Amino acid sequence: MEIPLRVIHSELEIKKTVDELGRQISEQYRGKDLLLVGILNGAFIFLADLSRSLSIPHKIDFMGASSYGDATQSSGNVKITKYPDTNPQGKDILIVEDVIETGLTLGRITGYFLEEGASSVRICSLIVKEKPGRKSFPADFVGYREGDEFLIGYGMDYAGLYRNLPFLATLDDPSLLDENTLS
Ligand code: PRP
Repeated sequence: MEIPLRVIHSELEIKKTVDELGRQISEQYRGKDLLLVGILNGAFIFLADLSRSLSIPHKIDFMGASSYGDATQSSGNVKITKYPDTNPQGKDILIVEDVIETGLTLGRITGYFLEEGASSVRICSLIVKEKPGRKSFPADFVGYREGDEFLIGYGMDYAGLYRNLPFLATLDDPSLLDENTLS
């Protein structure tokens, strides 16, 4: 069976993009009390690389949110599956996401940090998906702006699989993919 994947950003290209984001973030947060908050599960790979690209001191925590489950469309119901261990009060929070689509997840999460008294809340997303007629959620640091295609790799999954792929790829027909396709 032919692999229904098209690589849209290679491993090397992603590395250059993440390094550039790291450079910008390091410049803007120098001297601040920076806390990176990765949104599980999808952001874990991006967060690890972004953290290592920063040249300034920073702490790391995680928050869990899920609205897609195994589906390719958001259910619209954002479930917080983990709250951060760190008290956000007085912290400069940089939320790290793999992808923003509807913005519902980040709406919920930024609301949490503002209510908890964070000094500042900004967003770094590797990908922002844009769709005609849909208002884009404002992000402060963005790696790539893409269309509404389904993406896998570099943290993003299809039914929990393929997060480990080192590149970003589109899956033109998710129904064709099964566990054996990429082996
Ligand atoms: C994905 C992604 C974002 C969210 C973005 O998470 O990691 O958190 O969807 O979508 P939105 O802008 O429409 O809210 P998902 O719920 O798929 O969980 P996962 O990160 O564990 O894959």
